[in-house]
Amino acid sequence: MGPVSLPERLLELRGLRAGYGEVEILRGVDLHVDAGEIVTIAGTNGAGKSTLAKAVMGLVPRCVGVRAFRGRALDQVAPEDRICLGISYVPQVANVFTRLTVQENLEVVEAVADRRARIAEMYALFPGLAGRRRLAAGMLSGGERQQLAFARALMPRPAMLLLDEPTAALSPALAAQVFSIIGRLPEWNIAALIIEQRARESLRYSDRGYILDGGKVVIAGRADELLANDDLTDLYLGRH
Ligand SMILES: Nc1ncnc2c1ncn2[C@@H]1O[C@H](COP(=O)(O)OP(=O)(O)O)[C@@H](O)[C@H]1O
Ligand SMILES: [Mg+2]
Repeated sequence: MGPVSLPERLLELRGLRAGYGEVEILRGVDLHVDAGEIVTIAGTNGAGKSTLAKAVMGLVPRCVGVRAFRGRALDQVAPEDRICLGISYVPQVANVFTRLTVQENLEVVEAVADRRARIAEMYALFPGLAGRRRLAAGMLSGGERQQLAFARALMPRPAMLLLDEPTAALSPALAAQVFSIIGRLPEWNIAALIIEQRARESLRYSDRGYILDGGKVVIAGRADELLANDDLTDLYLGRH
């Protein structure tokens, strides 16, 4: 037998506590994402999902516990430099520059090699954006804006995407488009940590999942096992 090679550990959170002012929102979260893995975070509104994403990006004022990416302590890396480590973050809101054109939104992404080729690749992937390239992003529909945010995140060929509700406010058809691109991430060896309201659908594209409730991981497991657990799906993933 040849040597066993373990997948590279990308994101590692251990005992993560985070909050705003005196209020603690995350109360000891353990979570990881390995290279090439697709991982879903589900949970009720207010569970702390967006806070978790912001903690990874250094955007929460009060934060303790292990936060590492590729073995590097994240608190030693400025938020704006975390993209250079290979993390692309798409926040739940305000995820494009509304006054810049579509083209400019792609041009200003940092840490991109071979920019012209990347931009062409994004227009091929999101044909709807190609015809809108001279339009201010603020004029786009919700669905187009979400596609632009996704394209911006893919531009640097990140090791891991961190997506906060990428299909929120999208029609089922547009959500399906987003999931079809998520389904292609393994082909590009891009891992993803996806916060999703459409958790059931997201888990179908995922290797593993976590369910967050009250600032803690209440269930973690393989995506197929989570989907097969009826009690769980009724409670956290919405009814069939
Ligand atoms: N900037 C903030 N200041 C104070 N409290 C906040 C802030 N952002 C979120 N919260 C609170 O933190 C809790 C978790 O919010 P959030 O992480 O956005 O949950 P989720 O994304 O799971 O819906 C909520 O009770 C919310 O009101
Ligand atoms: Mg949220």
